[in-house]
Amino acid sequence: MKKTYQICCLPGDGIGPEIIAEGKKVLDAVGARYGVTFACEDTLIGGAAIDACGNPLPDETLEAARAADAVLLASVGGPKWDTTDPAAPRPEQGLLKIRKELGLYTNLRPVQIFGALAGASTLRPEIIDGVDMMIVRELTGGLYFGRRERFYDEPGAGTDGAAGQRAYDTLEYREYEVERIARQAFEAARKRRGKVSSVDKANVLETSRMWREIVHRIGEAEYPDVELEDVLVDNAAMQLINRPASFDVVVTENMFGDILSDEAAQITGSLGMLASASLGDGVALYEPSHGSAPDIADQGIANPLAQILSVEMMLRYSFDMGEAADAVRAAVTVVLDEGWRTRDIADAETPAECVLGTAAMGDQVVAHL
Ligand code: IPM
Ligand code: MG
Repeated sequence: MKKTYQICCLPGDGIGPEIIAEGKKVLDAVGARYGVTFACEDTLIGGAAIDACGNPLPDETLEAARAADAVLLASVGGPKWDTTDPAAPRPEQGLLKIRKELGLYTNLRPVQIFGALAGASTLRPEIIDGVDMMIVRELTGGLYFGRRERFYDEPGAGTDGAAGQRAYDTLEYREYEVERIARQAFEAARKRRGKVSSVDKANVLETSRMWREIVHRIGEAEYPDVELEDVLVDNAAMQLINRPASFDVVVTENMFGDILSDEAAQITGSLGMLASASLGDGVALYEPSHGSAPDIADQGIANPLAQILSVEMMLRYSFDMGEAADAVRAAVTVVLDEGWRTRDIADAETPAECVLGTAAMGDQVVAHL
């Protein structure tokens, strides 16, 4: 009997619905070729869910995600829901909450160069030659999940007597949270080039000093074969564009990873190319590393490749379909080698007829599968 996998699809906002349609197209094509059915069902998250029911992560969405074999998410957020009112619901809360609720503490963001796009990078070819790194971002702790608060002090009421607003966010980690993400990084390094760069701010932050101590303890005791280096986050931001090819696995705190992965994406030429996998102990979630690009939404011009490459990661990590995953990656590579581009990765030399819209790019990938 044909195997059926349930996929919970979360189109979200902005370009989300357009790019997820291409991800599904690829899933259908892979299913047809490998004798598997991917049963995709759409549910609401983010701004779309706020509009429908006032909640960026409705209970039904969470239930659907828990019941699925994998979750495919596109993107959330947009100016429509931008607010500085701390009480108003925000689309991003839906994303943060689903990661937390599903226990997705490991976020893998591979940064690889497609040869055909080397020219799209803002860095010189000799600098990006050989770039192949895996950013392992801690995803359910740290600064994005700590206690935060905003106060509106009456004149004279603040601790220093100063009037006006006050706010704080907390960066907190438990030992087990650092241990488990460290192990994920070392395990990933073992399957790659055997090197982990642990990024922290141990010259200032107590959490970072604890992070460093724990990562070293795990490394020495359990992964003596893996090389470990510490890099301060500000220096890491610099080294990423100075010597990107020297990084193999980069492991870091939630916010540091958020920032550094956008920076690393740019090395490849476009954030539109970067996929991610969020893994925990149960169902996993796959999404592009980029946002909802509201400025180009509903125009049919968004780059669906990061979404398609997140399908590749799904096949690999959730369904152990390595061959199918390789085929998806190969199809994307050939499409790019043949010169097909979406607008974000096109340049002055790209012939106009090679600049494709979102759906046409998805069709090209499917045609090459
Ligand atoms: C990402 C995004 C999210 C994050 C936002 C939308 C909450 O920037 O996945 O990198 O910061 O994790
Ligand atoms: Mg981000």
